[in-house]
Amino acid sequence: MSATLEFPLVRSSIAGVPVAELAAKYGTPTYVYDFESIERAVKDLAPFDVIRFAQKANSNIAVLDFLRQRGVLVDAVSAGEVHRAVSAGYELHGEPHPVVYTADIFDRASLDLVVEKGLHVNCGSEEMIRQLGERAPGANVTLRINPGFGHGHSQKTNTGGEQSKHGIWHENLDGALQLADRYGVTVTGLHMHIGSGADFEHLSQVGQALETIARKVGRSITTISAGGGLPTRYRSSDTQVDIERYFKIWDETRRRLQEEFGHAITLEIEPGRYLVAECGFLVAEIRAIKRMGKNLFYLLDAGFNSLARPILYGAYHPMSISPAKGGAGERETVPVVVGGPLCESGDIFTQQDGGFVCSRDLPVAEVGDFLVIEAAGAYGFVMASNYNSKPLPAEVAIYRGSHQVIRARQTNEDLTRGERLASWNG
Ligand code: LLP
Repeated sequence: MSATLEFPLVRSSIAGVPVAELAAKYGTPTYVYDFESIERAVKDLAPFDVIRFAQKANSNIAVLDFLRQRGVLVDAVSAGEVHRAVSAGYELHGEPHPVVYTADIFDRASLDLVVEKGLHVNCGSEEMIRQLGERAPGANVTLRINPGFGHGHSQKTNTGGEQSKHGIWHENLDGALQLADRYGVTVTGLHMHIGSGADFEHLSQVGQALETIARKVGRSITTISAGGGLPTRYRSSDTQVDIERYFKIWDETRRRLQEEFGHAITLEIEPGRYLVAECGFLVAEIRAIKRMGKNLFYLLDAGFNSLARPILYGAYHPMSISPAKGGAGERETVPVVVGGPLCESGDIFTQQDGGFVCSRDLPVAEVGDFLVIEAAGAYGFVMASNYNSKPLPAEVAIYRGSHQVIRARQTNEDLTRGERLASWNG
Protein backbone atom coordinates (compact mmCIF):
# COMPACT_ATOMS: atom_id res chain seq x y z
CA MET A 1 0.00 0.00 0.00
CA SER A 2 1.27 3.49 -0.75
CA ALA A 3 1.68 6.00 2.07
CA THR A 4 -0.90 8.43 0.76
CA LEU A 5 -4.18 7.75 -0.88
CA GLU A 6 -5.94 10.35 -2.99
CA PHE A 7 -9.70 10.43 -2.66
CA PRO A 8 -10.91 12.27 -5.79
CA LEU A 9 -14.07 14.41 -5.79
CA VAL A 10 -14.96 13.26 -9.30
CA ARG A 11 -14.47 9.59 -10.08
CA SER A 12 -15.05 7.99 -13.44
CA SER A 13 -13.98 4.45 -12.61
CA ILE A 14 -13.26 1.96 -9.84
CA ALA A 15 -10.22 -0.26 -10.39
CA GLY A 16 -10.37 0.66 -14.08
CA VAL A 17 -14.06 -0.14 -14.56
CA PRO A 18 -16.38 2.81 -15.36
CA VAL A 19 -18.77 3.54 -12.49
CA ALA A 20 -21.62 4.05 -14.98
CA GLU A 21 -20.96 0.57 -16.40
CA LEU A 22 -21.04 -1.00 -12.93
CA ALA A 23 -24.24 0.85 -12.06
CA ALA A 24 -25.92 -0.13 -15.33
CA LYS A 25 -24.95 -3.78 -14.97
CA TYR A 26 -25.54 -4.31 -11.24
CA GLY A 27 -27.93 -1.50 -10.24
CA THR A 28 -27.58 0.74 -7.20
CA PRO A 29 -26.86 0.80 -4.35
CA THR A 30 -24.06 -1.73 -4.80
CA TYR A 31 -20.90 -2.43 -2.84
CA VAL A 32 -17.94 -2.74 -5.21
CA TYR A 33 -14.67 -4.22 -3.92
CA ASP A 34 -11.30 -3.84 -5.59
CA PHE A 35 -9.66 -7.19 -4.75
CA GLU A 36 -6.22 -5.96 -5.81
CA SER A 37 -6.39 -3.51 -2.91
CA ILE A 38 -6.99 -6.47 -0.55
CA GLU A 39 -4.03 -8.24 -2.09
CA ARG A 40 -1.77 -5.23 -1.45
CA ALA A 41 -2.90 -4.99 2.17
CA VAL A 42 -2.11 -8.68 2.74
CA LYS A 43 1.42 -8.09 1.41
CA ASP A 44 1.92 -5.17 3.81
CA LEU A 45 1.36 -7.47 6.77
CA ALA A 46 3.68 -10.24 5.53
CA PRO A 47 6.24 -9.77 8.34
CA PHE A 48 3.78 -11.24 10.86
CA ASP A 49 3.83 -15.05 11.16
CA VAL A 50 0.06 -15.23 10.98
CA ILE A 51 -2.45 -12.77 9.57
CA ARG A 52 -5.82 -13.67 11.03
CA PHE A 53 -8.65 -11.77 9.36
CA ALA A 54 -11.34 -10.47 11.72
CA GLN A 55 -14.10 -11.43 9.33
CA LYS A 56 -16.70 -9.32 11.11
CA ALA A 57 -15.35 -6.45 8.97
CA ASN A 58 -16.43 -8.09 5.72
CA SER A 59 -17.53 -11.70 5.79
CA ASN A 60 -18.60 -12.26 2.19
CA ILE A 61 -17.39 -15.78 1.39
CA ALA A 62 -15.68 -14.58 -1.82
CA VAL A 63 -13.61 -12.16 0.28
CA LEU A 64 -12.77 -14.95 2.73
CA ASP A 65 -11.86 -17.33 -0.07
CA PHE A 66 -9.63 -14.70 -1.70
CA LEU A 67 -7.82 -14.16 1.60
CA ARG A 68 -7.59 -17.89 2.28
CA GLN A 69 -5.86 -18.41 -1.06
CA ARG A 70 -3.30 -15.82 0.01
CA GLY A 71 -2.48 -17.59 3.25
CA VAL A 72 -4.61 -15.47 5.56
CA LEU A 73 -6.31 -17.31 8.44
CA VAL A 74 -9.57 -16.23 10.00
CA ASP A 75 -11.37 -15.66 13.27
CA ALA A 76 -15.02 -16.25 14.00
CA VAL A 77 -17.20 -14.57 16.61
CA SER A 78 -20.25 -16.76 16.09
CA ALA A 79 -21.36 -20.13 14.79
CA GLY A 80 -22.46 -18.24 11.68
CA GLU A 81 -18.95 -16.96 11.06
CA VAL A 82 -17.57 -20.50 11.47
CA HIS A 83 -20.09 -21.57 8.82
CA ARG A 84 -18.86 -18.78 6.53
CA ALA A 85 -15.24 -19.83 6.99
CA VAL A 86 -16.09 -23.42 6.08
CA SER A 87 -18.12 -22.23 3.06
CA ALA A 88 -15.05 -20.30 1.92
CA GLY A 89 -12.91 -23.43 2.04
CA TYR A 90 -11.17 -23.14 5.41
CA GLU A 91 -10.24 -26.33 7.21
CA LEU A 92 -11.15 -26.27 10.88
CA HIS A 93 -7.93 -27.86 12.14
CA GLY A 94 -4.25 -27.31 11.58
CA GLU A 95 -1.24 -25.53 13.01
CA PRO A 96 -1.58 -22.59 13.31
CA HIS A 97 -5.33 -22.91 13.81
CA PRO A 98 -7.02 -21.90 10.53
CA VAL A 99 -10.16 -20.80 12.38
CA VAL A 100 -10.30 -19.50 15.95
CA TYR A 101 -13.53 -18.83 17.81
CA THR A 102 -13.07 -15.55 19.69
CA ALA A 103 -15.72 -13.85 21.79
CA ASP A 104 -16.68 -12.84 25.33
CA ILE A 105 -19.45 -15.40 25.61
CA PHE A 106 -20.56 -18.67 24.07
CA ASP A 107 -24.15 -18.66 22.98
CA ARG A 108 -25.49 -22.20 23.14
CA ALA A 109 -25.12 -22.81 19.40
CA SER A 110 -21.49 -21.72 19.36
CA LEU A 111 -20.56 -23.74 22.46
CA ASP A 112 -22.11 -26.86 20.91
CA LEU A 113 -20.28 -26.23 17.64
CA VAL A 114 -16.92 -25.52 19.26
CA VAL A 115 -17.14 -28.69 21.35
CA GLU A 116 -18.39 -30.85 18.49
CA LYS A 117 -15.70 -29.67 16.05
CA GLY A 118 -12.90 -29.25 18.60
CA LEU A 119 -12.34 -25.65 17.51
CA HIS A 120 -9.66 -23.55 19.11
CA VAL A 121 -11.11 -20.86 21.40
CA ASN A 122 -9.83 -17.44 22.43
CA CYS A 123 -11.65 -16.86 25.75
CA GLY A 124 -12.74 -13.32 26.54
CA SER A 125 -14.28 -14.18 29.94
CA GLU A 126 -13.68 -16.54 32.85
CA GLU A 127 -17.13 -17.99 32.19
CA MET A 128 -15.95 -19.16 28.75
CA ILE A 129 -13.09 -21.07 30.38
CA ARG A 130 -15.55 -22.70 32.77
CA GLN A 131 -18.13 -23.59 30.12
CA LEU A 132 -15.54 -24.97 27.73
CA GLY A 133 -13.67 -26.76 30.53
CA GLU A 134 -16.85 -28.54 31.63
CA ARG A 135 -17.63 -29.77 28.13
CA ALA A 136 -14.08 -30.26 26.78
CA PRO A 137 -11.71 -30.81 29.70
CA GLY A 138 -8.06 -30.73 28.68
CA ALA A 139 -8.59 -28.21 25.86
CA ASN A 140 -5.95 -25.70 24.82
CA VAL A 141 -7.12 -22.08 24.81
CA THR A 142 -5.82 -18.59 24.32
CA LEU A 143 -6.95 -15.80 26.61
CA ARG A 144 -8.06 -12.35 25.53
CA ILE A 145 -6.85 -9.96 28.20
CA ASN A 146 -8.20 -6.47 28.81
CA PRO A 147 -5.00 -4.63 29.77
CA GLY A 148 -6.84 -1.84 31.62
CA PHE A 149 -6.55 0.71 28.81
CA GLY A 150 -7.98 1.05 25.33
CA HIS A 151 -8.49 3.38 22.42
CA GLY A 152 -10.62 3.68 19.28
CA HIS A 153 -11.83 6.05 16.59
CA SER A 154 -15.01 6.35 18.65
CA GLN A 155 -15.87 5.59 22.29
CA LYS A 156 -18.03 2.80 20.85
CA THR A 157 -15.01 1.05 19.34
CA ASN A 158 -12.71 1.33 22.37
CA THR A 159 -12.41 -2.22 23.71
CA GLY A 160 -10.05 -1.76 26.65
CA GLY A 161 -10.34 -0.28 30.14
CA GLU A 162 -13.03 -0.48 32.79
CA GLN A 163 -15.82 0.78 30.51
CA SER A 164 -15.32 -2.11 28.13
CA LYS A 165 -17.01 -5.49 28.42
CA HIS A 166 -14.23 -7.19 26.48
CA GLY A 167 -11.60 -9.65 27.61
CA ILE A 168 -10.47 -10.95 30.99
CA TRP A 169 -9.54 -8.09 33.30
CA HIS A 170 -5.75 -8.02 33.67
CA GLU A 171 -5.93 -8.08 37.46
CA ASN A 172 -8.08 -11.25 37.38
CA LEU A 173 -5.46 -13.34 35.60
CA ASP A 174 -4.74 -15.58 38.63
CA GLY A 175 -8.41 -16.49 38.99
CA ALA A 176 -8.62 -17.31 35.28
CA LEU A 177 -5.53 -19.53 35.47
CA GLN A 178 -6.86 -21.36 38.55
CA LEU A 179 -10.10 -21.99 36.69
CA ALA A 180 -8.15 -23.32 33.70
CA ASP A 181 -6.20 -25.65 36.02
CA ARG A 182 -9.40 -26.97 37.54
CA TYR A 183 -10.47 -28.29 34.11
CA GLY A 184 -7.04 -29.26 32.84
CA VAL A 185 -7.25 -26.43 30.31
CA THR A 186 -3.89 -25.15 29.06
CA VAL A 187 -3.35 -21.50 28.19
CA THR A 188 -1.23 -21.64 25.02
CA GLY A 189 -1.57 -18.05 23.94
CA LEU A 190 -2.46 -14.49 24.80
CA HIS A 191 -4.38 -11.91 22.82
CA MET A 192 -5.05 -8.22 23.31
CA HIS A 193 -7.25 -5.98 21.18
CA ILE A 194 -7.63 -2.53 22.67
CA GLY A 195 -9.95 -1.05 20.06
CA SER A 196 -10.66 -0.23 16.46
CA GLY A 197 -9.04 2.69 14.72
CA ALA A 198 -6.68 3.29 17.66
CA ASP A 199 -3.66 5.52 17.13
CA PHE A 200 -0.11 4.27 16.91
CA GLU A 201 0.88 5.48 20.39
CA HIS A 202 -1.85 3.48 22.10
CA LEU A 203 -1.32 0.42 19.92
CA SER A 204 2.37 0.37 20.65
CA GLN A 205 1.77 0.18 24.43
CA VAL A 206 -0.02 -3.13 24.05
CA GLY A 207 3.12 -5.24 23.49
CA GLN A 208 4.51 -4.25 26.88
CA ALA A 209 1.21 -4.99 28.62
CA LEU A 210 0.99 -8.39 26.95
CA GLU A 211 4.58 -9.22 27.86
CA THR A 212 3.91 -8.60 31.55
CA ILE A 213 0.94 -10.97 31.48
CA ALA A 214 2.82 -13.59 29.44
CA ARG A 215 5.58 -13.72 32.06
CA LYS A 216 2.93 -14.44 34.70
CA VAL A 217 1.34 -17.23 32.65
CA GLY A 218 4.70 -18.78 31.84
CA ARG A 219 6.09 -21.35 29.46
CA SER A 220 2.84 -22.79 28.16
CA ILE A 221 2.57 -19.70 25.92
CA THR A 222 3.40 -20.44 22.28
CA THR A 223 1.33 -17.76 20.51
CA ILE A 224 0.82 -14.06 21.05
CA SER A 225 -1.67 -11.95 19.12
CA ALA A 226 -1.44 -8.21 18.64
CA GLY A 227 -5.19 -8.12 17.93
CA GLY A 228 -6.60 -5.85 15.24
CA GLY A 229 -7.35 -2.16 15.32
CA LEU A 230 -4.85 -0.88 12.77
CA PRO A 231 -6.15 2.44 11.50
CA THR A 232 -6.82 2.99 7.79
CA ARG A 233 -7.19 6.09 5.67
CA TYR A 234 -10.52 7.85 5.42
CA ARG A 235 -9.18 11.25 4.30
CA SER A 236 -6.52 12.23 1.79
CA SER A 237 -4.59 13.78 4.70
CA ASP A 238 -4.48 10.47 6.64
CA THR A 239 -1.13 8.74 6.43
CA GLN A 240 -0.64 5.03 6.38
CA VAL A 241 0.24 3.39 9.67
CA ASP A 242 3.93 2.44 9.84
CA ILE A 243 3.65 -1.36 9.69
CA GLU A 244 7.40 -1.89 9.80
CA ARG A 245 7.70 0.04 13.04
CA TYR A 246 4.64 -1.67 14.48
CA PHE A 247 5.98 -5.11 13.60
CA LYS A 248 9.31 -4.24 15.19
CA ILE A 249 7.70 -3.40 18.52
CA TRP A 250 5.86 -6.71 18.55
CA ASP A 251 8.80 -8.68 17.27
CA GLU A 252 10.93 -7.38 20.14
CA THR A 253 8.24 -8.45 22.60
CA ARG A 254 8.14 -11.85 20.97
CA ARG A 255 11.94 -12.23 21.06
CA ARG A 256 12.14 -11.34 24.74
CA LEU A 257 9.48 -13.95 25.52
CA GLN A 258 11.24 -16.55 23.38
CA GLU A 259 14.39 -15.94 25.35
CA GLU A 260 12.53 -16.20 28.64
CA PHE A 261 10.67 -19.40 27.70
CA GLY A 262 13.31 -21.05 25.55
CA HIS A 263 10.96 -21.91 22.70
CA ALA A 264 9.51 -20.36 19.54
CA ILE A 265 6.55 -18.02 19.83
CA THR A 266 4.20 -17.38 16.92
CA LEU A 267 3.27 -13.75 16.38
CA GLU A 268 -0.23 -13.13 15.06
CA ILE A 269 -2.02 -9.99 13.94
CA GLU A 270 -5.81 -9.86 13.67
CA PRO A 271 -6.91 -6.99 11.45
CA GLY A 272 -10.33 -6.46 9.99
CA ARG A 273 -10.42 -2.93 8.65
CA TYR A 274 -6.81 -2.83 7.44
CA LEU A 275 -7.39 -5.63 4.94
CA VAL A 276 -10.71 -4.50 3.51
CA ALA A 277 -11.65 -0.87 4.28
CA GLU A 278 -9.90 0.76 1.35
CA CYS A 279 -11.05 -1.84 -1.18
CA GLY A 280 -14.73 -0.95 -0.82
CA PHE A 281 -16.95 1.57 -2.66
CA LEU A 282 -20.66 1.99 -2.13
CA VAL A 283 -22.08 3.12 -5.46
CA ALA A 284 -25.38 4.97 -5.08
CA GLU A 285 -27.50 7.11 -7.38
CA ILE A 286 -28.58 10.65 -6.60
CA ARG A 287 -32.38 10.46 -6.74
CA ALA A 288 -33.29 13.99 -5.63
CA ILE A 289 -31.59 17.32 -5.06
CA LYS A 290 -33.36 19.83 -2.88
CA ARG A 291 -32.72 23.01 -1.00
CA MET A 292 -33.89 23.48 2.58
CA GLY A 293 -33.14 27.07 3.55
CA LYS A 294 -29.39 27.40 3.42
CA ASN A 295 -28.73 23.66 3.02
CA LEU A 296 -28.51 21.86 -0.31
CA PHE A 297 -29.30 18.12 -0.03
CA TYR A 298 -28.27 15.28 -2.34
CA LEU A 299 -30.60 12.39 -1.55
CA LEU A 300 -29.36 8.94 -2.54
CA ASP A 301 -30.89 5.51 -2.96
CA ALA A 302 -28.52 4.31 -0.19
CA GLY A 303 -29.03 5.24 3.46
CA PHE A 304 -27.96 4.04 6.86
CA ASN A 305 -29.65 0.77 5.93
CA SER A 306 -26.75 0.34 3.46
CA LEU A 307 -23.90 1.97 5.43
CA ALA A 308 -24.41 2.57 9.15
CA ARG A 309 -21.01 3.95 10.18
CA PRO A 310 -21.91 7.65 9.85
CA ILE A 311 -25.09 7.41 11.94
CA LEU A 312 -23.48 5.10 14.49
CA TYR A 313 -20.13 6.81 15.00
CA GLY A 314 -20.29 10.07 13.06
CA ALA A 315 -17.74 8.29 10.86
CA TYR A 316 -16.31 10.23 7.93
CA HIS A 317 -16.23 8.55 4.53
CA PRO A 318 -14.78 10.19 1.44
CA MET A 319 -17.32 10.76 -1.34
CA SER A 320 -17.06 11.38 -5.05
CA ILE A 321 -19.45 12.16 -7.84
CA SER A 322 -19.54 10.10 -10.98
CA PRO A 323 -21.48 11.87 -13.72
CA ALA A 324 -24.02 9.58 -15.39
CA LYS A 325 -23.25 11.13 -18.76
CA GLY A 326 -19.52 10.53 -18.36
CA GLY A 327 -16.91 13.26 -18.35
CA ALA A 328 -14.87 13.19 -15.20
CA GLY A 329 -13.28 16.61 -15.64
CA GLU A 330 -13.06 19.21 -12.88
CA ARG A 331 -16.40 20.48 -11.63
CA GLU A 332 -17.30 23.42 -9.45
CA THR A 333 -17.98 22.36 -5.85
CA VAL A 334 -20.80 23.37 -3.53
CA PRO A 335 -21.48 22.64 0.17
CA VAL A 336 -23.87 19.68 0.27
CA VAL A 337 -25.62 17.59 2.91
CA VAL A 338 -25.77 13.97 1.72
CA GLY A 339 -28.70 11.87 2.89
CA GLY A 340 -30.49 8.63 2.12
CA PRO A 341 -34.03 7.47 1.43
CA LEU A 342 -35.11 6.41 4.93
CA CYS A 343 -37.96 7.91 6.88
CA GLU A 344 -35.71 9.08 9.68
CA SER A 345 -33.94 12.43 10.10
CA GLY A 346 -30.71 10.75 11.12
CA ASP A 347 -30.36 9.21 7.67
CA ILE A 348 -27.51 11.54 6.78
CA PHE A 349 -24.05 10.48 5.62
CA THR A 350 -22.46 13.86 6.36
CA GLN A 351 -22.85 13.93 10.12
CA GLN A 352 -20.53 14.16 13.08
CA ASP A 353 -20.56 12.15 16.30
CA GLY A 354 -23.65 13.19 18.25
CA GLY A 355 -25.78 13.40 15.12
CA PHE A 356 -24.84 16.94 14.09
CA VAL A 357 -25.59 17.39 10.40
CA CYS A 358 -22.79 19.03 8.47
CA SER A 359 -22.11 19.80 4.86
CA ARG A 360 -19.34 18.69 2.55
CA ASP A 361 -17.91 20.44 -0.51
CA LEU A 362 -18.86 18.16 -3.40
CA PRO A 363 -19.03 18.69 -7.14
CA VAL A 364 -22.21 20.13 -8.61
CA ALA A 365 -24.34 17.16 -9.66
CA GLU A 366 -27.64 16.27 -11.27
CA VAL A 367 -30.30 13.73 -10.41
CA GLY A 368 -29.18 10.48 -12.05
CA ASP A 369 -25.48 11.05 -11.35
CA PHE A 370 -23.77 8.54 -9.11
CA LEU A 371 -22.35 9.28 -5.71
CA VAL A 372 -19.63 6.91 -4.55
CA ILE A 373 -19.00 6.49 -0.83
CA GLU A 374 -15.41 5.38 -0.51
CA ALA A 375 -13.28 3.41 1.95
CA ALA A 376 -16.44 1.47 2.75
CA GLY A 377 -15.19 -2.11 2.54
CA ALA A 378 -14.97 -2.64 6.30
CA TYR A 379 -18.08 -2.64 8.51
CA GLY A 380 -20.15 -1.57 5.50
CA PHE A 381 -22.24 -4.36 4.06
CA VAL A 382 -21.92 -6.47 7.22
CA MET A 383 -23.71 -3.81 9.26
CA ALA A 384 -26.38 -3.10 6.65
CA SER A 385 -30.02 -3.78 7.54
CA ASN A 386 -33.44 -4.17 6.01
CA TYR A 387 -34.81 -1.08 7.77
CA ASN A 388 -37.73 0.43 5.86
CA SER A 389 -37.91 -2.95 4.07
CA LYS A 390 -35.07 -2.07 1.74
CA PRO A 391 -33.35 -5.11 0.22
CA LEU A 392 -29.65 -5.48 1.09
CA PRO A 393 -27.40 -4.16 -1.68
CA ALA A 394 -25.54 -6.35 -4.17
CA GLU A 395 -21.81 -6.95 -3.70
CA VAL A 396 -19.47 -7.00 -6.70
CA ALA A 397 -15.77 -7.86 -6.88
CA ILE A 398 -13.28 -6.51 -9.41
CA TYR A 399 -9.97 -8.29 -9.91
CA ARG A 400 -7.53 -7.57 -12.71
CA GLY A 401 -10.15 -5.81 -14.81
CA SER A 402 -12.93 -8.39 -14.60
CA HIS A 403 -15.93 -8.05 -12.35
CA GLN A 404 -18.63 -10.30 -10.99
CA VAL A 405 -21.42 -10.46 -8.43
CA ILE A 406 -20.36 -12.03 -5.13
CA ARG A 407 -23.72 -11.47 -3.48
CA ALA A 408 -26.96 -10.89 -5.34
CA ARG A 409 -29.12 -7.94 -4.37
CA GLN A 410 -31.93 -9.10 -2.11
CA THR A 411 -35.41 -9.33 -3.54
CA ASN A 412 -38.71 -8.35 -1.96
CA GLU A 413 -39.35 -12.08 -1.41
CA ASP A 414 -36.14 -12.23 0.64
CA LEU A 415 -37.60 -9.53 2.88
CA THR A 416 -40.53 -11.64 4.06
CA ARG A 417 -38.75 -15.02 4.08
CA GLY A 418 -39.58 -16.86 7.28
CA GLU A 419 -42.51 -14.60 8.16
CA ARG A 420 -46.01 -16.03 8.31
CA LEU A 421 -49.52 -14.83 9.01
CA ALA A 422 -50.55 -15.73 12.55
CA SER A 423 -52.99 -18.63 12.66
CA TRP A 424 -55.59 -16.73 14.71
CA ASN A 425 -55.98 -14.08 11.99
CA GLY A 426 -59.35 -13.78 10.29
N1 LLP B 1 -10.12 -8.48 16.89
C1 LLP B 1 -11.14 -8.31 17.76
C2 LLP B 1 -11.20 -9.13 18.96
C3 LLP B 1 -12.13 -7.36 17.50
O1 LLP B 1 -13.12 -7.19 18.36
C4 LLP B 1 -12.06 -6.58 16.33
C5 LLP B 1 -13.10 -5.59 16.02
C6 LLP B 1 -10.99 -6.79 15.44
C7 LLP B 1 -10.03 -7.74 15.77
C8 LLP B 1 -10.82 -6.03 14.17
O2 LLP B 1 -10.67 -4.68 14.38
P1 LLP B 1 -10.24 -3.75 13.16
O3 LLP B 1 -8.87 -4.20 12.73
O4 LLP B 1 -11.22 -3.94 12.08
O5 LLP B 1 -10.27 -2.38 13.70
N2 LLP B 1 -18.10 -1.37 13.56
C9 LLP B 1 -16.93 -0.58 13.95
C10 LLP B 1 -15.76 -1.44 14.32
C11 LLP B 1 -16.05 -2.46 15.40
C12 LLP B 1 -14.89 -3.38 15.61
C13 LLP B 1 -15.25 -4.54 16.46
N3 LLP B 1 -14.15 -5.42 16.72
C14 LLP B 1 -16.59 0.40 12.83
O6 LLP B 1 -17.30 0.43 11.83
O7 LLP B 1 -15.64 1.16 12.94
